[in-house]
Amino acid sequence: MAGKNKTGISTQALSRLMHAAAKARERAVAPYSQFRVGAALLTKSGQVITGANVESASYGLTCCAERVALFSALTGGKRDFTAIAVVARASGGPMPCGACRQLLAEYASDAKVFVADSRRLKAVKQFSVRELLPGAFLDFRPA
Ligand code: THU
Repeated sequence: MAGKNKTGISTQALSRLMHAAAKARERAVAPYSQFRVGAALLTKSGQVITGANVESASYGLTCCAERVALFSALTGGKRDFTAIAVVARASGGPMPCGACRQLLAEYASDAKVFVADSRRLKAVKQFSVRELLPGAFLDFRPA
């Protein structure tokens, strides 16, 4: 069927999201690693919120593109994320780190995760948040 694929979102929406992540990547601030990452979140209502990684001379303060996008979206009042695209110049696409997986599990648990190499935006790999972080820590209250 036209516009359909195996991802559960339309080919047009997926393409738009991958390109938004690639565009966001251009604004990465990565003077130490030179590894530029862009991320784009899609909400249920079709809004796209982007972010890129920001690095610090105090390396541990670095924030990944996924978290920059997520924090921006959340503090902009956005919820109900259906997908996140992550793009970097990495064969097969960049895999979200453990910290980002935790935040996605908390705030975007139903989002599909799409990753792609910035040189091959159509070669998208898809994951669920649950498969990326099984058994996520979600409840800190003592039993
Ligand atoms: N990075 C991201 O922004 N997202 C990922 O999925 C992987 C890693 C960033 C953090 C750091 O600025 C650089 O990539 C190298 O680790």
